[in-house]
Amino acid sequence: MTQSPVRYDRQGAVGIVTVDSPPVNALSQAVRQGLWDRVTEGFNDPAVTALVIVGAGRTFIAGADIAEFIKGGMGEPDLNEVNALIESGAKPVIAALHGTALGGGLEVALSCHYRVAVPKALVGLPEVKLGILPGGGGTQRLSRLVGAKTAIEMITSGAFLPAAKAHSLGIVDYVGEGTDPLAVALSFAASLQAGPHKRTRDREDGLAADRGSSVFDEARASLAKSARNQFAPQRCVDAVEAAFTLPFDEGLTRERDLFMQCMAHDQAKALIHVFFAERAVTKIPDVLPSVPARKIAQVAVLGSGTMGGGIAMNFVNAGIPVRLLDLDQVALDRGMGVIAKNYAGTVAKGKLAQTEMDKRLSLIQPTTDYADLADADLIVEAVFEDADVKAKVFRRLDEVAKKGAILASNTSTLDLDAIAAHTKRPADVIGMHFFSPANVMKLLEVVRGRHTAPDVIATAMAVGKQIGKVSVLVGNCDGFVGNRMVQYYATEAQRLVIEGASIEQVDQAALEFGLAMGPFAMGDLAGLDVMGFIRARRVAAGLIYGTPLSDRIDPARKGQKNGRGWYRYEPGNRTPLPDPEVTAVIDAYRAERGITPRNFSSEEIAKRLIYSLVNEGAKILEEGMALRAGDIDIVYIYGYGFPAWRGGPMKFAELSGLDKVLADITRYHADAVAAGDADGAYWEPAPLLTRLVAEGKKGFG
Ligand code: 3HC
Ligand code: NAI
Repeated sequence: MTQSPVRYDRQGAVGIVTVDSPPVNALSQAVRQGLWDRVTEGFNDPAVTALVIVGAGRTFIAGADIAEFIKGGMGEPDLNEVNALIESGAKPVIAALHGTALGGGLEVALSCHYRVAVPKALVGLPEVKLGILPGGGGTQRLSRLVGAKTAIEMITSGAFLPAAKAHSLGIVDYVGEGTDPLAVALSFAASLQAGPHKRTRDREDGLAADRGSSVFDEARASLAKSARNQFAPQRCVDAVEAAFTLPFDEGLTRERDLFMQCMAHDQAKALIHVFFAERAVTKIPDVLPSVPARKIAQVAVLGSGTMGGGIAMNFVNAGIPVRLLDLDQVALDRGMGVIAKNYAGTVAKGKLAQTEMDKRLSLIQPTTDYADLADADLIVEAVFEDADVKAKVFRRLDEVAKKGAILASNTSTLDLDAIAAHTKRPADVIGMHFFSPANVMKLLEVVRGRHTAPDVIATAMAVGKQIGKVSVLVGNCDGFVGNRMVQYYATEAQRLVIEGASIEQVDQAALEFGLAMGPFAMGDLAGLDVMGFIRARRVAAGLIYGTPLSDRIDPARKGQKNGRGWYRYEPGNRTPLPDPEVTAVIDAYRAERGITPRNFSSEEIAKRLIYSLVNEGAKILEEGMALRAGDIDIVYIYGYGFPAWRGGPMKFAELSGLDKVLADITRYHADAVAAGDADGAYWEPAPLLTRLVAEGKKGFG
C-alpha cells in the first residue's frame, strides 16, 4: 500500500494533520483522501481538543492538483466533502499558513475555524488565471468574511495577498512571528477559549452590508472592459453574488455549477495549458538541471541604443553591475540619458524610490574602452544590426573577454553561427534575443548555436529567470521563432488589404481576437524602415516578407517614430488614425493588379492571420527550432501580446481542431496558387500538420 501524503500526530492536546506532498502540497486525490482520514482520526482522538492543518516543506497547500484537471475525473472525496468535514467537527480546526495558501488550499483554510500565518505567508484565489473559479466553497466562504467588493477583487484578479493584509481584511485571524507555522498555530491553540467555535459558513460579517448592492453590476461592467471576451471573470462575480442571494448550501451548488461551466470552456483548457507550458520551457532534454550554470557577477552590454539601454536596466534592476560600452562619449551620454529618463518616469509614478533609482544608475559604468570588459562574466552585444559590425565586435571581444565569459548576441536577424565563427570560442557564444522595450517585455529567446555549450545554455536560462524574463530556448534560424512566424503574419495582413479589407478592419479583427495590437499598428511601432530593411534582405535571398504593396508606401513613412506609417499620428499621441494618402496607394495597387475588393468578416481575417502563425509554427516545430508547441505559445504570449486565454497560436489550433485548421490552410494555399500570388506561397501546409491530421492526432504532442 502506498503511504498517504497526509500524516497525523499529536503535540500535547493538539492533533496535527500534516500535508506532505512535494513540491507544493497540491490537493491530489491522495491528499484529499489523506485529509479526510487524518482529520477524522483527529476528531476521534480523545486525547486532543483542537486540530492544526499544516503543510510540510516550503508551503501550505498551493491549490487543487491542476494536473488532475487535464486527466479529468478527479476522484472521491470531493474537495467540498473534505471542507464540510473539517467545518463540521466539534473540535476547532486551525489552518497554519506559510508559503502560499492558494486556491483549494485557501479554501481548506477557510473551512477551518481559524487561520493563523507566519508573516511571509501569501494567500489568494488565483483560479481565474486558469480560466476557472474557486470550486471548493471559496466564493461563498470568503464573501462571508470580507464582503462583496473585496471578494470580487480577490477572486477576479487572482492576486496574492501578504499575511498582514489578509489579517487586516479578516481572512487570517492571527499573524505570529518567525517562519514556523506550526509554532504559531500551537501558541494560538493554547490561547483558545472554550467553544463554540464559529464556522465560516455561519458568519455574517461580510454579507449584511452588500445584500442588494450595486457592486455586482459595477464589477460586471468593469470586467466587460478589462477582461473583454473572457468567460471566467464574469462567472466569478455570479458565484460571489450567490453568497448574498442564496442560503449557504444552495450557494455552494451554484458555485459548483459555475465552476463546471468554466471547466468545460476552451478558455480553461487554454489557460491550464499555458500554466504548464510556462513551466515546461525551463526543461531542456539535453541540458539537465544537474548541468551547473556559470557564475554571473559582472555583466557588460555593448551598444547603449534602444535595446542595449533596456538590457542594461534589466541587469541592474536585479542588482548585477553592468559596464555599458558604446562607440563614443556622445552615444554613451545619449544612452545613459534615456536610461535615467526611463527610471525618472517610474519614480514620478511613485513606483520606484529615488534612492533606488540612484543605486541602479550607479551600478552602470559607461565606457568606450574594451579593456573594461575584461572582468565581465557575460557580455551582451546590442550594436547595429550589420554583419560586418558584429564581426568586428566579436573579434575584439574574443581578444579581451576573460576565459569562460559568455558572449551573447541580441541580433534579431543574423546567423548566430556566423557570428560565433568570428571567435575562437564558439561554445561560449549564444543568442539572447530581448524584445523591445527590453526592460519591459517578459520574453527572452535564448538562441542555441551549433556549438553552444550546455552550461552556457543553462546559464543564459538561469540569468533570464534572475532578471525576471520568461526564457525560451530556440534554434538558430532566420527570425528565430517569434519573428520568423510574425513575418508571415505581417505579410498576410497586407494580402488581406490587397484583397479588399481595410487596414483598420484588419487591426480591429486582431483586437477582437484578443491580440494586444493589430499587425499594422505593430508595424508602425516596430518601424516601417526596419521592416523595409528586413524585406529587402529577404527578397534578395528569394524569401517572402511583406508584399509589393509595402514597397509602394513612401519610404519616408517610418511609423510612430515620425508620425506617419500605415497610419498617421498626431504629435504626442499614439492613437492610429486612418490616412487617405495610404488608402490612395492601396486603391492604386488594387487597380493595377485588377483586383476587385471583396468584403471580409472579422472572423475570416482573424483566421487568416492566426493560421499563418500556426502553419509556420508547425514548420518550426518539425525542424526542431522550438522544443515544444507550448514553447511557441509562450513566445507569442510573452513577446507578441497573444491572449493567454486563447492558449497561444498552437493551442488555439488544437482547440479549433487540427483537421479544420488544415482544411482552411489548404484552401488558402489553393487560392493563392489559383491567383498566381507568389506572396501566399507560405500557405503550403506544413508537413507536420498534414501528418498529424492524417494520423488522426488532436494535438502537436
Ligand atoms: N497543481 C499541480 N502542480 C502544481 C501546482 C498545482 N496547483 N502548483 C504548482 N505545481 C507544480 C508546477 O507545475 C511545478 O512543477 P514542475 O517542477 O514539474 O515544473 C512545481 O509545482 C513548482 O511550481 P513553480 O515552478 O511554479 O514554483 P514556484 O515556487 O515558482 O511557484 C506557486 C509556486 C506560487 C505555488 C505556483 O506554482 C503557482 O502559482 N501554482 C498554481 C497555484 C494555483 O493556481 N492554485 C489554484 C489551483 S486551482 C484550484 O485550486 C481549484 C479549486 O478551487 C477547486
Ligand atoms: P540602435 O541603433 O538603437 O543602437 C545601437 C547602438 O550600438 C548605438 O548606440 C550605436 O552607437 C552602438 N554601436 C554601433 N556600433 C558599435 C560598435 N562597434 N561598438 C559599440 N557600440 C556600437 O539599435 P537597436 O535597435 O538597439 O538594435 C541593436 C541590436 O538589437 C540589433 O542587433 C538589433 O537587431 C537587435 N534588436 C533590436 C530590436 C528592436 O526592436 N530595436 C529588438 C530585438 C533585437
